[in-house]
Amino acid sequence: MEINNKRDSFGSKIGIISAAAGSAIGLGNIYRFPCELGDNGGAAFLLVYLAVVILLGIPVMLSEFVIGRRSQSNTVGAFQKLVPKSGWSIVGYMGVLCGFLIFSFYSTVSGWTLEYILKAITNSFRGKDLATIEQEFIDFHNMGWRNVLWQAAFIFLTGYVVFKGVKDGIEKYAKILMPLLFVILIILGIRSITLPGAKEGLVFLFKPDFSKITGDVLVGALGQGFFSLSLGMGVLITYGSYIKKNDNLTSTAFSVVFADTLIALLAGIVIFPAAFSFGVKPTAGMGLVFNTIPMIFNQMHSGYFFCVIFFVLLAIAALTSTISLLEVVVAFITEQHHIKREWATVIACCITLLVGTFASLSLMENSPFAKDGYTVFGMMDFLSSNILLPLGGLLIVIFTGWKLGKSQFFDEVTNGGALKSPLKAIIFFIIRYLAPLAILVVFISGLIN
Ligand code: PHE
Repeated sequence: MEINNKRDSFGSKIGIISAAAGSAIGLGNIYRFPCELGDNGGAAFLLVYLAVVILLGIPVMLSEFVIGRRSQSNTVGAFQKLVPKSGWSIVGYMGVLCGFLIFSFYSTVSGWTLEYILKAITNSFRGKDLATIEQEFIDFHNMGWRNVLWQAAFIFLTGYVVFKGVKDGIEKYAKILMPLLFVILIILGIRSITLPGAKEGLVFLFKPDFSKITGDVLVGALGQGFFSLSLGMGVLITYGSYIKKNDNLTSTAFSVVFADTLIALLAGIVIFPAAFSFGVKPTAGMGLVFNTIPMIFNQMHSGYFFCVIFFVLLAIAALTSTISLLEVVVAFITEQHHIKREWATVIACCITLLVGTFASLSLMENSPFAKDGYTVFGMMDFLSSNILLPLGGLLIVIFTGWKLGKSQFFDEVTNGGALKSPLKAIIFFIIRYLAPLAILVVFISGLIN
């Protein structure tokens, strides 16, 4: 792939949607969303989350696509091209940094999916009760270097795909496998809601208690929204730069937000009824998903078969997300520093593994990288999801609304007037006024809390 002469682009419309949705759909939906929802009071969180996704998700995503496609550049280059010699490229640098940070702890959990594929294949959950499965999850964390090894394997896998380039790599994998994940979640969901005592879980998920909406819930939902949709750090600027000039950016943004939210909701419907049924606390955090899901398979016809498929698909969902994280960094290194794609990939993967090792080892009991319940892993997650991504999103909408301006925005979303794009005025209004205000208010309410 000749990145320096002619930019690679996505081959087809379905290719862009699946690549962007592949980035969005991942551990954020199936692992992080239930954790956050469980920690933040259930349905009340879901309500705020949905508001964030609809009100902010679509405008921020569209802003990123516009910046990327208009500039035909990586996240740093994009701002430099659109407003030369201004300070705006700092938003791009923040994104690259955030890419490293997220990839570093995300690859930890991605590595677990590989361990769990192995457990599933060797039928290691069969006949075990919840206490045993929970203990084995803890034991696994305590084998710190085993975590790091899986993490390294996952980073290597990501590097391999990114190394092969956008069209042969990213698109091919996402296109077939994400719909399959959807199907298996439906099957799991049906089993989950028909378990004894499942109703309580549905009540927790869908019956909001408004008194539970606190500043923490707002900040958590905002961070989760940005994290889940891969917003605020330039993934979608980078991918936007690979979208063809005659593709419809608005409908792409709508499709991606819809698919991502659907998968998160399905994950909630799979996890909570089952968790209540088995007696896993909704605040169980990391164990919520990794312990509940094997228990569901234990109660299911052909559980072995589905369990293997589920963890393979989870790993692939994670992979299409890590690919996008790495792509941001690699596009930046190759284009800004004129280093070959191969080397850029190797450099980025090595740094990620170095930093990521601390994240993995911090989850061991008595780890030197954890103190009073605060782990390096948790801190990286909090810093990137709850602070850097919303901050990046804030700057991106301010840039689009006030710097790029209405005419350039309209020109890009209508493909130079070829498309009608009836929602463009409303979306631009949100980008210019509502989104910056909403993000700021949530930030401030979080600080006050
Ligand atoms: N959106 C991904 C997920 O839900 C994670 C991600 C965040 C990917 C930010 C890229 C950028 O799993």
